[in-house]
Amino acid sequence: MNATIAVLPGDGIGPEVTREAVRVLQAVAQQFGHTFTLKEGHVGGEAIDRWGTPLPEDTLGLALQADAVLFGAVGGPKWSDPRAKVRPEQGILGLRKHLELFANIRPVRVFPDLVEASTLRPEVIQGVDLVVVREATGGLYFGAREEGTERAYDTLIYTRPEVERVVRLAGELARKRRGYLVSVDKANVLASSRLWRHVAGEVVREEFPDVRFEHILVDAMAMHLIRRPGDFDVIVTGNMFGDILTDEASMLAGSLGMLPSATLGASQNRFGLPRGLYEPIHGSAPDIAGQGKANPLASILSAALLLRYSLGLEEEAAAVEQAVEQALHRGYRTADIAQVGQGTQTLSTEEMGRAVVEHLGSSTGKTR
Ligand code: IPM
Ligand code: MN
Repeated sequence: MNATIAVLPGDGIGPEVTREAVRVLQAVAQQFGHTFTLKEGHVGGEAIDRWGTPLPEDTLGLALQADAVLFGAVGGPKWSDPRAKVRPEQGILGLRKHLELFANIRPVRVFPDLVEASTLRPEVIQGVDLVVVREATGGLYFGAREEGTERAYDTLIYTRPEVERVVRLAGELARKRRGYLVSVDKANVLASSRLWRHVAGEVVREEFPDVRFEHILVDAMAMHLIRRPGDFDVIVTGNMFGDILTDEASMLAGSLGMLPSATLGASQNRFGLPRGLYEPIHGSAPDIAGQGKANPLASILSAALLLRYSLGLEEEAAAVEQAVEQALHRGYRTADIAQVGQGTQTLSTEEMGRAVVEHLGSSTGKTR
């Protein structure tokens, strides 16, 4: 297959983790006989420095023409002056909005070898396998806002079609998995949540009668995620709640550095598959940037999702995920998931990328 992938490394640890994901994609191309044309673009703070905007026209054009987008991270103290008019974060938010990528899919899986790396007890997280579907182009992130020094506000708006399409996508996902969907809101306080709850209930009742369904309030959900994470399958929620709950959920997997994501929408690429954006859920971690300490696995696992959803390469995606599992099983760790005295070895960002490539070569994937 011939595919074009836009690569937007961004700021902080973005470039170093993305480099390893690209290394893995190139190894996949070689091993399975594909041609991936990678086109790099600027985004976030480094784009502000260079072009005065976090999402230059060229970058947007690149993303719109590509079959998929691999994204690193944006942001950092250099650009976080509260008076700043342009912010690096507008880079990723603008991409989600312009590409109409309304569903941010964040799978949380516990790798058996990392059970001990979590701050939670093994019996709580053993076997956790859930997916959060976070609405990504609406809600509090995109409502009207005003910012004064004495008064400021943000607005939280959801419309019926916005709720319908994301719940539909989550329902389809639940149907392919274990058939259990939870919708998370704050309907005891917020009007937008009451609409969310009403519409979500309607969509599931009418279109997914076979899916077991429940509404849970977001504060209670925050608790259930830590107390009984193994009970959940697919969780669908709004933009802000999804942002918070997925950072929390990352602790089930041992580290924020382990969670990949795929953001999908209605737009299709040349293969008739979703033109998705793939990114680790972690941020730019400016405090460790450039030191080779960052965990590239979230980015590498995001590349696996890219292969699966935007290129339809299931076997290749599974091979990457397997290679990650094997590298972890072999005892390879980055600093964030290091376990002292357990037969493990702490690697740099690049060494971890190379370790995954090495295991890719030795996995069961077909070779040409
Ligand atoms: C994420 C990030 C972004 C978000 C930031 C960088 C704007 O935290 O992808 O979760 O809040 O969506
Ligand atoms: Mn976040």
